[in-house]
Amino acid sequence: MGKSQIRIGLLGFGTVGSAFVELLETQKSSIFSKTGLELVVTHVAVNDLTKDRSGLNAQTLLTNKPNEVIENTEVDLVVELMGGLLPAKDLVEAALENSKPVITANKELLSKEGRHLFTLAGVRKVDLLFEAAVAGGIPLIRVLRESLLGEPVEKIMGIVNGTTNYILSQMEEKSMPYSEALLEAQNLGYAESDPTADVSGQDAASKAAIIAMVAFGADVSLDDVPFEGIENISSADVAFAKRAGCAIKLLAMVSKYENELEVQVYPAMLPNSHPLSSVRDSFNAVFVEGAAVDSLMLFGRGAGGMPTASAVLGDVIDAAVNLSNRTYRDIGDLTEVPLIQGDEQKSAYYVSVQVIDEPGVLATVASVFAKHDISIQTMEQEGMDREARLVFITHEVEENRLEGALSELSNLSCVEKLGTVIRVLEA
Ligand code: NAP
Ligand code: HSE
Repeated sequence: MGKSQIRIGLLGFGTVGSAFVELLETQKSSIFSKTGLELVVTHVAVNDLTKDRSGLNAQTLLTNKPNEVIENTEVDLVVELMGGLLPAKDLVEAALENSKPVITANKELLSKEGRHLFTLAGVRKVDLLFEAAVAGGIPLIRVLRESLLGEPVEKIMGIVNGTTNYILSQMEEKSMPYSEALLEAQNLGYAESDPTADVSGQDAASKAAIIAMVAFGADVSLDDVPFEGIENISSADVAFAKRAGCAIKLLAMVSKYENELEVQVYPAMLPNSHPLSSVRDSFNAVFVEGAAVDSLMLFGRGAGGMPTASAVLGDVIDAAVNLSNRTYRDIGDLTEVPLIQGDEQKSAYYVSVQVIDEPGVLATVASVFAKHDISIQTMEQEGMDREARLVFITHEVEENRLEGALSELSNLSCVEKLGTVIRVLEA
């Protein structure tokens, strides 16, 4: 057994970093009585030394030079909660090179540099833990790495971005405009410092890549994951989905088909009977299907300071116990797996088209679908002063065939504007 005091160097004291320090303070004695370890945050690095840091006690050393935290021999373990690729990558790399365990919530970093950093942690025989990087407070990574280690996992489908789920819920429940809902999500501490990563689907794509690494041992990086976001989803789309008994959700899909993987992110209309459709607000949920376990779902807060801090603290305790027992756990080898190209996948689609309201227009638009051998399930027309909004739900069609029809539709003189195109999934 090694030392009983573990000194933590914290990089970042923003939404998650400050919540982590607050949570650790309240749980310190309980952690000591359960593990015999005293966890102390001794060093904190931030950008701006002039900001109020009243959450820190007087003994904590505050610096704006994060390298000093990494290199300090008094720091046993590093918690990276700065976010972004650089300088986080260099700092995490340096900590691991110094044989210090690292806990991070940084999905961008892991989805771009995961393979390299996991290899380095393995070489140095230290933990690199990242529960908070996917689905906030939900202990998904631990379940995949431990409880489901022997499970032949087939599919993981998740709402893994709290900001977008919050926005979509507010649009649906309160008819709130998109921009107002985004502002609220930012004020509540859910969004990334640049919320484009959330609304474009990139943040969820990073999480999908990490899920693919952990669940399938696949060497997948963010660049491999096609993603679509929610920026183009309008109030009319949300209202249509509600009338049709569906909810629009941003989904991360990681599925295994024989030796290939599908890893992608897109918004989809889910019928109300699907367990993921009732996940509201900043909550996340991850639905796992496996050959033995059948179906299971994990649910919890996907964003916000305290829920994320809870996941970080769980990892810190794990790493501290491992450090004290002079052990660690690595993620295992990542291997290259062929990825299915999204455009070969079949789905039903919601397609909205804004047209001039004149005789023959509906027939012209419908003929384009027919020409591309796309069958229509339902069609609805909404009048709007000399214009009309046509909404089609197609039967299942490959994405590339639909693309062909959309491109032809956009060239028709009667089409004012192609609206949103959203996959429609079954329960
Ligand atoms: P945040 O509120 O923007 O805080 C970032 C912190 O890092 C700030 O304290 C900032 O300093 C510090 N920092 C940034 N660049 C720095 C640099 N070059 N040197 C020293 N300090 C630097 O971010 P957050 O929301 O806490 O997110 C932190 C990480 O957790 C990100 O990877 C994010 O993706 C992840 N995450 C966040 C959530 C969430 O709900 N917020 C959930 C899950 C995961 P100043 O205080 O001086 O500005
Ligand atoms: N911005 C992220 C979200 C934070 O909204 O889900 C949690 O990773």
